[in-house]
Amino acid sequence: MGTNHQQRQLHLGAFIFGVGHHIAAWRYPLTDTGGLLKLDFYKQFAQTAERGKFDLVFIEDIPVLPEPLNRAVQYTLPVRAEPLTLLSALASVTKKIGLVGTVSTTYSEPFHVARKFASLDHLSSGRAGWNAVTTSMENTAKNFGRDHHLDHSLRYERAKEFVDVVTALWDSWEEGALVIDKATGQFADPDKVHAINHVGDHFSVRGPLNVHRSVQGRPVVVQAGSSTTGQAFAAQTAEVVFTAWQTLEEAQSFYASLKGQLPAYGRSPDELKILPGVLPFIGATEEEAKAKEAEFQNLVLPAVGLGMVQNMLRVDLSGYPLDGPLPELPDSTDINGGKSRYQLLLDMARREHLTIRQLIHRVTGARGHRTITGTPVQIADQLEEWFVKEACDGFNIMPPYLPGGLDEFVDLVIPELQRRGLFRSEYSGHTLRDHLGLAEPANRFAQRSAAVAESAAADESQAGVATEAALASASE
Ligand SMILES: Cc1cc2nc3c(=O)[nH]c(=O)nc-3n(C[C@H](O)[C@H](O)[C@H](O)COP(=O)(O)O)c2cc1C
Repeated sequence: MGTNHQQRQLHLGAFIFGVGHHIAAWRYPLTDTGGLLKLDFYKQFAQTAERGKFDLVFIEDIPVLPEPLNRAVQYTLPVRAEPLTLLSALASVTKKIGLVGTVSTTYSEPFHVARKFASLDHLSSGRAGWNAVTTSMENTAKNFGRDHHLDHSLRYERAKEFVDVVTALWDSWEEGALVIDKATGQFADPDKVHAINHVGDHFSVRGPLNVHRSVQGRPVVVQAGSSTTGQAFAAQTAEVVFTAWQTLEEAQSFYASLKGQLPAYGRSPDELKILPGVLPFIGATEEEAKAKEAEFQNLVLPAVGLGMVQNMLRVDLSGYPLDGPLPELPDSTDINGGKSRYQLLLDMARREHLTIRQLIHRVTGARGHRTITGTPVQIADQLEEWFVKEACDGFNIMPPYLPGGLDEFVDLVIPELQRRGLFRSEYSGHTLRDHLGLAEPANRFAQRSAAVAESAAADESQAGVATEAALASASE
């Protein structure tokens, strides 16, 4: 490979997950467990990603511990920083990199979310992005006063309305609404600040927001559900989609399907960037990379690996031999958690005739995302292949452990991608939208004001024409 692609370049996210993505990351000797929930640890992560010219850092959020609780606490590392708190802190120690965080549409209110991300966008000078997820784990309901997780289709209906309300609130202050005239005492132009008066099936929100229009116009909207309903939601609302695929063919098919849905909503395929996750095990030689991967696998306690697969498939596998196949499981249409990852695991196990033990090995690192094990050149080859064959617009990089896993990628793989012309050597813009090549969406209220002004002007000129005609006829 090694072709030069001046026209199109990769977009890269650096995905923060605990002290590394591998489930045994915290046991790996080189992992900095002392950094957990320490600002310096995340600062180092974000600054390293910025040194590598990544488009963004991303932090996930699932506001519930995995089941069963005692095992999750005893053997895995289940603590996580709250995304907005963390990203606000990172805004002050970085300059260019985008700051993307998850907030659930099932367990929050739109006004709060609109306000927080607009604030982050101001405080970071235009670097905020919101990963709007419907939340995959059913037990989250129990932390929010509900007995049951909403049904999958209802979650997405709510999500669609949620995003509509949030973006309307972001639009509620037009560009130029602030007047700040000390002499006259006028702070803002009331004609450019709008109540949204939203009354829908799930929310009732008057607005306007108490934060004026943010630096990017609107923070970037990200989405991470890949089911059929998730895709339809993304096609209407999302500007970036995070996703997980194992094979080139699956990723190509998802890419074509999702991009193909955009024109139906009056959007061009370029208005949405698709970034699958990749967990890289990097070595000076292929053997060294494989040995590193094996070292991580050896750190997974059997009960922990099994528990992870059971959680992802929502099934008790304790009665089945580890060296046998998965039992018959319901199709994803019949489950109520996140559907696409569930289906991905089933498809992978069936396609490759995996035993339960082999499936455990395949998911304990990347949770169903793609793992690439090899030298920097081999990794760059594989990333390039997916990119040029239209399987993605870039990747979400998932270091298996921290901080070394990200350092290796930035020091060894990024230069190889740059050498091939596949990735920027310097930021050319300042905002997350600049990095992603995404235009600022038009403000719906500004469009309306412009239309009203236009029709008023038309009325006026019609009236002028009529008056001129009347005068002309009077003089005749
Ligand atoms: C990179 C990536 C990040 C994700 N982050 C989150 C997250 O932070 N919280 C969450 O509940 N789900 C997260 N998800 C999972 C999806 O949002 C999940 O698939 C969704 O909740 C259910 O969607 P689906 O049924 O359309 O697949 C993430 C998925 C991907 C690929």
